[in-house]
Amino acid sequence: MDAKADAKHATLTLGNKSIDFPVLSGTIGPDVIDISKLYAQTGAFTYDPGYTSTGSCESKITYIDGDEGVLLYRGYPIEQLAQGDFLETCYLLLEGELPNAAQKKDFDERVTKHTMVHEQMARFFQGFRRDAHPMAVMVATVGALAAFYQDSTDIKDPQQRMIASMRMIAKVPTLAAMAFKYTVGQPFVYPKNSLTYAENFLHMCFAVPCEEYKMNPVLARALDRIFILHADHEQNASTSTVRSAGSSGANPFACIAAGIACLWGPAHGGANEAALQMLADIGDVKNIPEFIKNVKDKNSTIRLMGFGHRVYKNYDPRAKLMQETCHEVLKEMGHDNDPLLKVAMELEKIALSDEYFISRKLYPNVDFYSGITLKAIGFPTSMFTVLFAVARTVGWISQWNEMIKEPNYKISRPRQLYTGAPKRDYVKVGDRK
Ligand code: CMC
Repeated sequence: MDAKADAKHATLTLGNKSIDFPVLSGTIGPDVIDISKLYAQTGAFTYDPGYTSTGSCESKITYIDGDEGVLLYRGYPIEQLAQGDFLETCYLLLEGELPNAAQKKDFDERVTKHTMVHEQMARFFQGFRRDAHPMAVMVATVGALAAFYQDSTDIKDPQQRMIASMRMIAKVPTLAAMAFKYTVGQPFVYPKNSLTYAENFLHMCFAVPCEEYKMNPVLARALDRIFILHADHEQNASTSTVRSAGSSGANPFACIAAGIACLWGPAHGGANEAALQMLADIGDVKNIPEFIKNVKDKNSTIRLMGFGHRVYKNYDPRAKLMQETCHEVLKEMGHDNDPLLKVAMELEKIALSDEYFISRKLYPNVDFYSGITLKAIGFPTSMFTVLFAVARTVGWISQWNEMIKEPNYKISRPRQLYTGAPKRDYVKVGDRK
């Protein structure tokens, strides 16, 4: 552990007993109270559903200041990293420092060499219905990598861990593009190693054998930026899932599949799909007041998708960059007058001046504009969360590596507040009333 024990202590009084707990300080961010000995000392657990006040691990990868709207990867602000390329961000997240030119070249080549998947994976796809959601296909096929690459699953061996990590960063986009091609009934397109990471992904998704694919650099740059913005986000639900799965010593490919499953939910990665659907349902600027009224109604379950965040109580810094990217892509594609963009901009304006949203500190998050952008690039809504998974893979694998490297990491095993039946005796079925 590198966190420093503070001079401060936290004192808990339980009944007539007072116990001191150490307070630990990180480099930046709130202090934490180390309650790991709480149960041993008091026989009580803490209760924090949804972990709103719980730090689950020590990490050096990503820092978020939700009140200020700050996101740092390894100390670098996201706005600055967005000037570079995605593989540079991958190297940074995985290795801890930005690469020099030679390291960057070597890393790019190593990722590139792993982009193909075992040819038998193609047959695996044929077991799915054509209308399967591509996230369902991703959960299965990424998990299945464990069955194909058994030479990189000894998690105690740092070299095997690195090979598994490179394979994941390189092959998840290939599987994502295959999932897309499968649903549209087109032949799979092999990776092309002369292209950049984002270009290769666009090529695998949109090229067809009967004609030359013309790369659009504006779209490739936008996609690369979208990948950077989604690459990591500290201990969010899917990352915590990956760490939790990994804490039992599980296979790394299976851990990433678990992360993908968690990401799928509409409160997490599925929000961009839900946000676009919401904009389409609103349809026209004139319907916004009625929609906002429904969102604010205490008895309704409708939420303004793409708004609000567990950690950001200010404008999500990724949302600002995503808004810029959205305008660039729409302009390039001649969709400047897209009615959904008009609805989104007006909705944002109204929500940001409405007391309901202001008092709850609800601001646009990264997903508010990402759906419109991805749609303009040419992706169907069902692929949005898949793209998020492609980008987040490096974050998951970096966090998993960080945990496994730690000599004394523990299996993730929260406790509970039990409110079920107390102990009672079994009654045979014939004797029950
Ligand atoms: N629309 C309307 N009201 C909202 C919204 C929203 N999007 N989000 C939160 N609220 C209200 C909520 O009803 C509650 O009000 P009250 O105090 O009157 O009961 C209050 O704000 C606090 O909400 P909460 O659910 O306790 O907050 P949370 O931190 O548990 O939820 C969230 C965070 C992201 C799940 C939630 O804001 C949400 O559902 N947003 C919409 C989905 C979304 O855009 N998710 C993407 C997150 S960014 C991408 C990612 O990291 O995966």
